[in-house]
Amino acid sequence: MTGLYIHIPICISRCRYCDFYKMTPNEWDNVSLYLKSLEMELARLPKDFAPDTVFIGGGTPTALDASDYASMLESIHRQINLSNVVEFSSEANPGSLTPDKLAAMKAGGINRVSIGVQSFSDKALRLLGRTHKSKGAIEGYYMLRNAGFENVNIDLIQSVPGMTPQDILADAQQVIDLKPEHLSYYNLIYEPGTPMTRDRDSGRIVPPGDDEEADNYFAVKDLLENAGYGHYEISNFSRNEQHCQHNVLYWQGGEYFGCGPSAHSHWKGKRFGNIRDLKVYCDRLQSNESAIDLMEELPSQEKARETLVMWMRMTDGVNLKKFEKVTGHHIDSLCGKSVQSMVEEGLLLREENRLSLTKDALFICNAVFSELV
Ligand SMILES: C[S@@+](CC[C@H](N)C(=O)[O-])C[C@H]1O[C@@H](n2cnc3c(N)ncnc32)[C@H](O)[C@@H]1O
Ligand code: SF4
Repeated sequence: MTGLYIHIPICISRCRYCDFYKMTPNEWDNVSLYLKSLEMELARLPKDFAPDTVFIGGGTPTALDASDYASMLESIHRQINLSNVVEFSSEANPGSLTPDKLAAMKAGGINRVSIGVQSFSDKALRLLGRTHKSKGAIEGYYMLRNAGFENVNIDLIQSVPGMTPQDILADAQQVIDLKPEHLSYYNLIYEPGTPMTRDRDSGRIVPPGDDEEADNYFAVKDLLENAGYGHYEISNFSRNEQHCQHNVLYWQGGEYFGCGPSAHSHWKGKRFGNIRDLKVYCDRLQSNESAIDLMEELPSQEKARETLVMWMRMTDGVNLKKFEKVTGHHIDSLCGKSVQSMVEEGLLLREENRLSLTKDALFICNAVFSELV
């Protein structure tokens, strides 16, 4: 399996916690130059590249208007062999959905939409700096359904300061009531330099403590599992095994190209990333230069360890034979001692051909992972 990621570096406004690369329309209004440059980058990908998954993310893909969105999809169809594609996802913000945009997405082959709800609490949405309200998120979700999308993900953020355990369960219950196929429920990360991080550092907001976070995490997990959502990755749930195949590819060390400013690729053993500057990105593409800013070829063992901890995020754990095939390393020669001691501590479960986190380790997975890398 291989994947293609496309970054749309435009957002109507900046959320207070987000560090993803984007420009607002005040800072950049030359969408057509960006789309031309993007097509030039797509045209440079290997001619035999035929991804199984495509993911259009951002930034905010739905910040493009319907005709720009349609022309971006046309570029992808022109430049990329899409005959193997089983999953073609786009991220979307609730406030920027319109029937004509959704029609363009559907007509261009998008078959999975991920809607950034973050919370159904208006208080939490205000704190996060989102421009939509709970009502708008629910309306956006129904717009997707009415447009015929049958595979929908909702993104929520956990551990938003000020949310009570009841608020948190109410968010999960609202997801259950809406019945999306998939839920991503990532913990709020305090990225350096963001307004939320400044607020935390100055004491204006107080994140919940570890015990409270763990209680909330397991209460949400129970509620969702009882409603038929399988917990297949630390922060992801799906109904009827409708996992996000693009992300599964990332977690299992798969290869992919990323296009657009700040996008990363992993191809033929190398990792590389594009420049995080929209103007420079366009200038470079227009003058036939490379957009790559960073290239690294990790030593094989280090790369295998990195793949191991990504893969361990999946609750089914790592298929050790497949891991050896993908990375060229046997788990015991890579980190046998650490694995054994964590099995004895009850943090890892080792079966014949499988290594997984135990339930006790799910919430403290980062500590486990740091022992493995
Ligand atoms: C980068 S956004 C792109 C899609 C879209 N613009 C949106 O906001 O949903 C993808 C997801 O990353 C999440 N995200 C961004 N920064 C985050 C952070 N610091 N902590 C947790 N989640 C974050 C967003 O909330 C969103 O659900
Ligand atoms: S969370 Fe999404 S909408 Fe908000 S700034 Fe980040 S990319 Fe843009």
